Amino acid sequence: MAQVEPQPVRIAAGTGEMPRHVAIIMDGNGRWAKKRMLPRAMGHKRGVETVRNIVRAAGELGLETLSLYAFSSENWKRPEEEINDLMALMRDFIKSDFDTFAKNDVRLKIIGDYKALSADIVEILEESVARTAKNSRTTLAVALNYGSQDEMVRAARAAAAQGEISASSIEANLDTAGLPPLDLLIRTSGEQRLSNFMLWQAAYAEFWFTETLWPDFSKDELAAALNEFACRERRYGGR
Ligand code: IPE
Ligand code: IPE
Ligand code: MG
Repeated sequence: MAQVEPQPVRIAAGTGEMPRHVAIIMDGNGRWAKKRMLPRAMGHKRGVETVRNIVRAAGELGLETLSLYAFSSENWKRPEEEINDLMALMRDFIKSDFDTFAKNDVRLKIIGDYKALSADIVEILEESVARTAKNSRTTLAVALNYGSQDEMVRAARAAAAQGEISASSIEANLDTAGLPPLDLLIRTSGEQRLSNFMLWQAAYAEFWFTETLWPDFSKDELAAALNEFACRERRYGGR
């Protein structure tokens, strides 16, 4: 019978540092609802509550930047009813929570081709971005109608129009320009793929996957991911 090699005890080789920029692919709302025989919309509703908690937790944990994948450019493939539910939740969330975020020194940034959303949502988003522009404790980057390939194409076009295509000129034209480099990428719900999220930015990001469905994700689990990050050794191709 094959012997299972004992795993060495892992000694933390990491820097013990906090990530400056954490991004989360918030997945599993539908499965959360299905498990409870509830409509999908209920899963999305509970997902919004998790967003609220995790944005607060990010501030409490001292995170500089939190990016959340809220709606992908491929999510338009979903039934119209679900898309309408998601847009209604987004509208309500921004209206109900942005005063609190603004008071808690959260700066809002939107990444993705959000101008294709309905005019009233674009208006409240831009108003919230302007109103929180001077805040500096935590930056919350929300990805709406975001697709990383589309983002890179737009960035490459802009770089070409400026006269030079290089890694730095493309990077300077990405929607995430101005944010710290992505350190840690979390995906909930057990899926282990990027689904067109931050393909460029993830070049040297650390990945952290959990089986937890997004509505059940908590501050404790975020803290556990940060702790694990602190134990990772990053080499960037060097030695
Ligand atoms: C994530 O939950 C929310 C969005 C993609 C908008 P899902 O709706 O993808 O949930 P599952 O993956 O079907 O469980
Ligand atoms: C990724 O989740 C998009 C968001 C979390 C907004 P999906 O549920 O859309 O991804 P796939 O379809 O499982 O890859
Ligand atoms: Mg999903």
